[in-house]
Amino acid sequence: MITQTRETQFSFSGEDTSYLTHSLHPYPAKFPPQLPKKILEDYAVKGQTVLDPFCGSGTTLVEARIFGANAIGVDVNGLSVLLSKVKATPLTEQQFSIIQSFILKIENEISKWKSENRPQIKIKEIEGQEHWFQYNVSEEITFLLNEILKQKDNNIQDFLKIVLSSIIVRVSNQDSDTRFAAIEKNIVNGYTLEAFCKKAREYNSRMAEFSELIHETTEMQVYNADSRNLDFIPDNSIDIIITSPPYANTYDYYLYHKFRKRWLDLDVKFAQYNEIGSRREYSSLKEKKEKWNEDLIKCFAEMQRVLKPNHFAFIVIGDSVIKKELIKIEKEISEFAPKIGFKVNEILSSDLSKHSRIFNPSYAQKGKKEHLIILEKV
Ligand SMILES: C[S@@+](CC[C@H](N)C(=O)[O-])C[C@H]1O[C@@H](n2cnc3c(N)ncnc32)[C@H](O)[C@@H]1O
Repeated sequence: MITQTRETQFSFSGEDTSYLTHSLHPYPAKFPPQLPKKILEDYAVKGQTVLDPFCGSGTTLVEARIFGANAIGVDVNGLSVLLSKVKATPLTEQQFSIIQSFILKIENEISKWKSENRPQIKIKEIEGQEHWFQYNVSEEITFLLNEILKQKDNNIQDFLKIVLSSIIVRVSNQDSDTRFAAIEKNIVNGYTLEAFCKKAREYNSRMAEFSELIHETTEMQVYNADSRNLDFIPDNSIDIIITSPPYANTYDYYLYHKFRKRWLDLDVKFAQYNEIGSRREYSSLKEKKEKWNEDLIKCFAEMQRVLKPNHFAFIVIGDSVIKKELIKIEKEISEFAPKIGFKVNEILSSDLSKHSRIFNPSYAQKGKKEHLIILEKV
């Protein structure tokens, strides 16, 4: 009999991470859905309440709902909140048929928008528009937005906004999601509408598969808030926490979806000033390592407060480099966790250069490791 080590039990390399609604819309540093799925199967009971205070693209929330648990998500980033809600909210037959009609209506418009005398509309203006968007693209995005905003059902509106958001980088002059440089793409008339309809059809069928699995008896809330203060969640009310906070000095999540947020009128400043661990803080503003610890302690103290006694928090987090110093995050957490009422139950680390990585190989550089830390509220 082959016995697996604990680390390999949490290794999902090579597995399909895009099933159901998990592949809707790009989002950086997602964890594999198999991770919350396995934790829920091993440690949770149907009907319990799961919290992810850094919910990002909603991976934990989607799995919680499939499992049959209630889900609460929190993220400082407005796009993350919209995306998480859409990915984890099942739609009804009636809503699907309204979406189908919407897609058909847009498809029927395409030839008109490709023709010489295409419609002329007043474009929605956003900052940086001329540099980042061709005029014909701005017209077609504005047309789509106007049509989406006519929808009366909020869940349908949000779903269509996420479809539109997912194609924004492709139809902009931005090279790619990961390369922030303007290039010439020569996007032809009608292309934006075609790209929208193609994505809408794909997301529609993923959403239909997901919706069939969800029992309406479970509930979900997603808050646009700063997890250093979770005062909207009562003490001792959460059964299990599954989350992955930022890895310090690694990303600026608030910057990542800049243009998407401008088109959708989502706030950028709240995330900019309240995101913890951002590159902005540690590379541009040159904050010290102590600030990172202070922020994490605030978040962990809130997680401890809302969790029921003897219940668990599962934290995926990576080491980081601040001012050239390697911060071994499992050591920092092991030191402060007991002081705020958490017992460190288990730490599974992976050096990421091996196949057994939990999530992102690029963190293997400079001796950084990634950890799954299991804390118990005492
Ligand atoms: C590693 S990502 C989470 C990814 C998520 N596990 C997934 O699979 O999509 C970290 C998230 O923390 C969020 N975040 C950063 N600072 C925050 C804060 N102060 N309060 C709440 N969320 C915050 C970021 O916006 C980002 O979405």
